[in-house]
Amino acid sequence: MARRITVLGATGSVGRNTLDLVRRAPEDFSVAALVANRDAEGLAELARATGAALAVVADPAAYPVLRERLAGSGVEAAGGREAVLAAAALEADLVMAAVVGIAGLAPTMEAVRRGRLVALANKESLVCAGSLMTAAAQAAGARLLPVDSEHNAIFQVLPPDGRSGVEEVVLTASGGPFRTWSAAAMAAATPEQAVAHPNWRMGAKISVDSATLMNKGLEVIEAAPLFGLGSDRLSILVHPQSVVHGLVRFSDGSVLAQLGTPDMRTPIANCLAWPHRMQAPVERLDLARLAQLTFEAPDPQRFPALRLARAALEAGQAAQIVLNAANEVAVAAFLDRRLGFGRIAELVEACLDRGVPAAPADVADVFAIDAATRALASDLLPRLAA
Ligand SMILES: NC(=O)c1ccc[n+]([C@@H]2O[C@H](COP(=O)([O-])OP(=O)(O)OC[C@H]3O[C@@H](n4cnc5c(N)ncnc54)[C@H](OP(=O)(O)O)[C@@H]3O)[C@@H](O)[C@H]2O)c1
Repeated sequence: MARRITVLGATGSVGRNTLDLVRRAPEDFSVAALVANRDAEGLAELARATGAALAVVADPAAYPVLRERLAGSGVEAAGGREAVLAAAALEADLVMAAVVGIAGLAPTMEAVRRGRLVALANKESLVCAGSLMTAAAQAAGARLLPVDSEHNAIFQVLPPDGRSGVEEVVLTASGGPFRTWSAAAMAAATPEQAVAHPNWRMGAKISVDSATLMNKGLEVIEAAPLFGLGSDRLSILVHPQSVVHGLVRFSDGSVLAQLGTPDMRTPIANCLAWPHRMQAPVERLDLARLAQLTFEAPDPQRFPALRLARAALEAGQAAQIVLNAANEVAVAAFLDRRLGFGRIAELVEACLDRGVPAAPADVADVFAIDAATRALASDLLPRLAA
């Protein structure tokens, strides 16, 4: 029977890759709902092409365009935050959670609370509410499938019970576009240079995070609740070719890894078809042609975001929310040319240094800490930007 799917963040990089796979296997999938923020035209086009039952824009101002573009198509249109939550709550066999940023938390949590199979790309949900999310999943009988290529690799490699004999989980990092740059050159990097990732085509925010290596820091934080491991059993290895996506070391000395060409459609396909496999039109890995795979330790001096993320993981959930919110403000300011690349980590550290509140008891607390940190980061921004 066709798997009925909902895509939150349908117009983004992960969303479009998901729908590319879905459109190639029309007999295996049907689309319940597609959600975006304000790209009404892009969403309408995707909804028509996939025969979605419902299309929703979070931004009410984008709703009139969506309604107009979908007139006569048979696709229902809706707009606003409540409509997004209603779409996330719709009956579906799988929900792809691929909104960017903390905005993804509420709809992702809604799908989890409904006990859905949730393919989780929105890493901010796990970073800011990892323990709340895994507890909600357990209570509702939801299952989380990691979409992020590194976590998906680990997910594929871990034993069925997730734990036995696991000594260490290793996430690989490409090193980003500035892997070989000096700190001085990085300090003057432009947004265009930062988003030009050597191996992956992704949204702007995550591309900048890949350049600072904050993305890898966030991924270590993400891995902790996902795999139930502490900071001491999670490590990072720089691997510029992005072919080995993740490794697990076992107590008998074995190391198992997942390999593939760097194309998000592989981990997305793994989630879409789970627990089976489906065809993905990705370039096949040719190790003989590649000839060499190289690895190196990350440089914490040039990439201070790694140290900050590790400290936040060890300090607990509230510190992780502060880290994430301050980083979102800093990255947005950098993309806007209001903050230098080298100052991104400084702004995050300045926010963490102001002290971390008590652990959040629920999603409302998560949003409160997030909002307070954004206000603080915006206050501190002009001083660092000067
Ligand atoms: N791209 C990758 O290869 C990759 C890999 C691993 C993990 N991830 C993670 O996956 C998530 C998505 O990344 P991406 O690169 O696909 O991002 P992206 O290209 O920037 O797309 C973001 C999507 O979220 C939607 N959106 C933004 N704010 C929203 C809101 N308030 N309500 C509803 N929808 C909203 C956007 O809609 P509009 O188009 O209307 O703005 C768009 O569809 C991120 O958490 C990222 O860290 C991405």
